[in-house]
Amino acid sequence: MGELFQTGSTVAQGRYRITELLGSGGMAQVFRARDERLGRFVALKAMRHDLPYDPGWATRFRREAQTMAGLSHPNIVSVHDTGEERRAGGGRPVPYLVMELVAGRSLAELLDAQGRLPLAEALPLALQILAALAAAHARGVVHRDIKPANVLLAEDGTAKVADFGIAAVAGRTVLTGTGAVLGTPHYMSPEQVEGRRDLDGRSDLYSLGVLLFRMLSGRVPFDADSAWSVGYAHLHTPPPSLASLGISVPGAVESLLARALAKDPGDRYHDAAAMRAAVEALARAEDEEATRPQAPFEFGLADLFPPASSAPPRPRAETSRTALVELLCFVPVLLSVGWAVVAQSRDTAGAGTITVVSACGLAWTWYAFLRRDDSALAGWPRTLVRAVAAIGAVVHGVTALAGLGMLAAEALAG
Ligand SMILES: Nc1ncnc2c1ncn2[C@@H]1O[C@H](COP(=O)(O)OP(=O)(O)OP(=O)(O)O)[C@@H](O)[C@H]1O
Ligand SMILES: [Mg+2]
Repeated sequence: MGELFQTGSTVAQGRYRITELLGSGGMAQVFRARDERLGRFVALKAMRHDLPYDPGWATRFRREAQTMAGLSHPNIVSVHDTGEERRAGGGRPVPYLVMELVAGRSLAELLDAQGRLPLAEALPLALQILAALAAAHARGVVHRDIKPANVLLAEDGTAKVADFGIAAVAGRTVLTGTGAVLGTPHYMSPEQVEGRRDLDGRSDLYSLGVLLFRMLSGRVPFDADSAWSVGYAHLHTPPPSLASLGISVPGAVESLLARALAKDPGDRYHDAAAMRAAVEALARAEDEEATRPQAPFEFGLADLFPPASSAPPRPRAETSRTALVELLCFVPVLLSVGWAVVAQSRDTAGAGTITVVSACGLAWTWYAFLRRDDSALAGWPRTLVRAVAAIGAVVHGVTALAGLGMLAAEALAG
């Protein structure tokens, strides 16, 4: 099918001037257009007129558009206007919606480019979508078509959900009367697959569960060659865990997905607000994990090679030392390591002395350099001191163990 409206043509008696085709979906073409009356750009969504004819369609479409226009929320694409346009060539009029233009890209494009998203990015997106769903459900509007292509990402990172209720207007199910598939069945809830008309908000929560699964794993939970098989899996196959796909997330995330993807709506979150609270708790835990000051006994590579500027400095628990004191503290480490190595290799000290001195050296190295984070040194001197201290700790640990082994051997022999 060609373009429903040509670039440069106008719609609604000259009010909207079509400037460019933004994209096409299963049911519509979306154009960028200029609202000549208000002097701003908008998105004009023209519904395909070659879909099976239904006389009640236009009325339902207008009614749904009015409901959508009543949804005013920062995470919902606002609907400004609706109408039907008679085209020059005749034929059935083309129903259209005029919406807020979201400059940016859709979540579908982001996922196509990135594959999957880290938890710290996926959870805030889910939260924004849930905020949109909570507002819509409170007004009795079920989205019915939550999927990546319907989540638009504005340039400032705000997620905006588009196409509220459109699927209901089009009467879309997995299979049309002629067996043709409209849209993707991958995000449909089991009750949608069954073709039930009395859907409630929990159907959207299932679709959001699929979306979150897709964001975190890079794939949908159920995929197959035919729409029928995907629909069957939604109805009867338990969703895989992320762990079974080799993706490690906290257990609470797996539980949240399992609950969102429950076959029976009664087993899902009761409403968007409840699911939002659960996602919020996960996001908070994830946030705390990311910014948690490391416990004193933890020592990792990051301590040896601190990133130049990224993470904020860890809180300083103790007063800072001067660089001179720091370097003086370092002398015993070097001496004791040298002593431990020589004593060990030449057998110039008794096993007990080796054990005690090495253990003391290990404790001092750990206490003075590895445990603390109030170093007055910066840059490469600090990295060098820490690296040598770490090596010293290993040498002391090994000689202390060797000393213990010698003591045990002596005890057994005696
Ligand atoms: N308000 C908008 N602002 C900017 N771009 C939009 C807007 N609405 C839709 N688009 C773009 O137009 C494309 C087509 O949207 P459309 O809703 O017709 O298709 P879809 O969501 O991919 O599929 P479906 O027909 O199944 O809903 C989208 O991929 C999106 O990038
Ligand atoms: Mg869409």
